[in-house]
This record gives sequence, structure tokens and C-alpha cells, in this order.
Amino acid sequence: MTISLSVEKPFARGGNRLCFVDPEDAGRCIKVRRPDFSLEDLRRKKGFPKNLKPLSSFDDSLEEYRVMRSFQQHYPEGIFDHVSRCYGFVDTDMGRGLASELIRDSDGRISITLKQYVWERGYSEDCQQAVNQLCEHWLRYCVPSRDILVHNVVVQRAYRGGEEAIQRLVVIDGLGSGNLIPMHWQPVWLQRSKTQRKVDNFHHRIATLLETRKHEQFPGEHGLLYHNGVDDRVAPPSKEQQS
Ligand SMILES: Nc1ncnc2c1ncn2[C@@H]1O[C@H](COP(=O)(O)OP(=O)(O)OP(=O)(O)O)[C@@H](O)[C@H]1O
Ligand SMILES: [Mg+2]
Repeated sequence: MTISLSVEKPFARGGNRLCFVDPEDAGRCIKVRRPDFSLEDLRRKKGFPKNLKPLSSFDDSLEEYRVMRSFQQHYPEGIFDHVSRCYGFVDTDMGRGLASELIRDSDGRISITLKQYVWERGYSEDCQQAVNQLCEHWLRYCVPSRDILVHNVVVQRAYRGGEEAIQRLVVIDGLGSGNLIPMHWQPVWLQRSKTQRKVDNFHHRIATLLETRKHEQFPGEHGLLYHNGVDDRVAPPSKEQQS
């Protein structure tokens, strides 16, 4: 069955993909290639010699799918405490889409990115703790990833008795080491030192964002949700929120 997305409004857009709420499941999102920036465009943009590589090697969703399958096969279930789950490919009228866990706050709103959160509120103590927890998680599991970008991390919040608290940070993109030898086959000392570099780099990126924030212009459009995450098909309130 082909899912109609072209009639829907995406809730966000990255450099490569448009993100839609799954019309059939408010707990999932479907990511498709941006029609205004095809794989052919991306390959052209890379120039020689990278443009000699096959088109499939530029496909983010295919890479993400492979990486997530490897997480399911080779890592403990706990790795998904801070990584969004992937449910595989679906057919859509905008081409092949990748279905994944849509991260929402306890009031049903789609969670905003760390970039937007820090931009709007600064680096609160709550947020610093959540960042440290994410970094500990990265080091505990030696999660294979590219650089952890502030627009590829979302901040899941919970509201209890009128109080807002960060529940967890979830990485939604940029997973997998991109290395020919899978991370889990490499010696543990090497995995640890590579992961430590990612963690250090992540802290630097947050520091850079805080520095840029002083100049008062949001850096680029990536990491901002359209219509502030409010969506017609919001998920039902979570148990915590009902209690
Ligand atoms: N599972 C998710 N839950 C909540 N929000 C999400 C999810 N996946 C994506 N988003 C939102 O959509 C935006 C774009 O998604 P994504 O990073 O997957 O696209 P991309 O084109 O691959 O990005 P990039 O520019 O990093 O290549 C994110 O910055 C985030 O705001
Ligand atoms: Mg992204």
C-alpha cells in the first residue's frame, strides 16, 4: 500500500530529508528524500572523484536503516534509551520513506531539537545534566556515530503538575561510524577513544552554539520545527500526564 504524504505538511526538514508524521500512526515519522534536492543533485554537488560512486552510497536513509539493523543485532536493547528506533522502509507517493520512532513530549508535541532548546533557553542545569547523561550513554555503549550535531538531537520533555523537566535526549540522525570495519569489531580501547572524541566534539558544538547565541541570529534553518511541533494528529497524553 502506498502512503500519501504529498497532501500532508512536513513537520520538519533537514539538509536531505523531509519529515512527516505517519498518517496512520501518530507515534511514528516517515522521512523521505527532499524533492528539491535529489540524490542526483547531492552526488553532483560532491564533485570529482566522489561523484563516481553509485547513487545508493549517498542515500542517508539506506545507511540509517543498515546502522539501525546492526544496533538491533549487535548491541543490547538499552542502546535505544537515547537513540530513536527504526521500523524499516515504507512506500509513499514521494518515494521510499524510512519509518522511525517519533519523539514527542508528554503533552503530545513533537520534541524540539537541542539546538532550538539551547537557543531559546540557554544551557540550563537541567539541560547540562541531560547532556551529561547522553554522553555517559554514548561512552557506555560506544555508540557508533558521526559527530553528534545539535540539530540531530531532540529534547524530550515531560510536564508534571505544571512543572517542566527534561526526560531524556534522543539522537535521531547521524548514527553509524561510516567506517569499513564495523565499530563492534574494533578493539574496545579504540572504540572508547573514538567515542570520547565524539563526546568532546559534542561539548564543543554546544559551546559554539552558546557563543553564536550572543549574536542573536538563529544559525541556519536546520533544527527548527515547522509550526512549533504542534500537530493535528498529536498522540494521546502519556500516563504521567494523565496522573
Ligand atoms: N524521530 C524524530 N523525532 C522527532 N523529531 C525528529 C525525528 N526525526 C527528525 N526530526 C526532526 O526533523 C529534523 C530533520 O530530520 P533529519 O535530521 O533526520 O533530516 P536530515 O535531512 O537527514 O538531516 P541533516 O541535515 O542532518 O542531513 C530534525 O532536525 C528534527 O527536528
Ligand atoms: Mg539531521
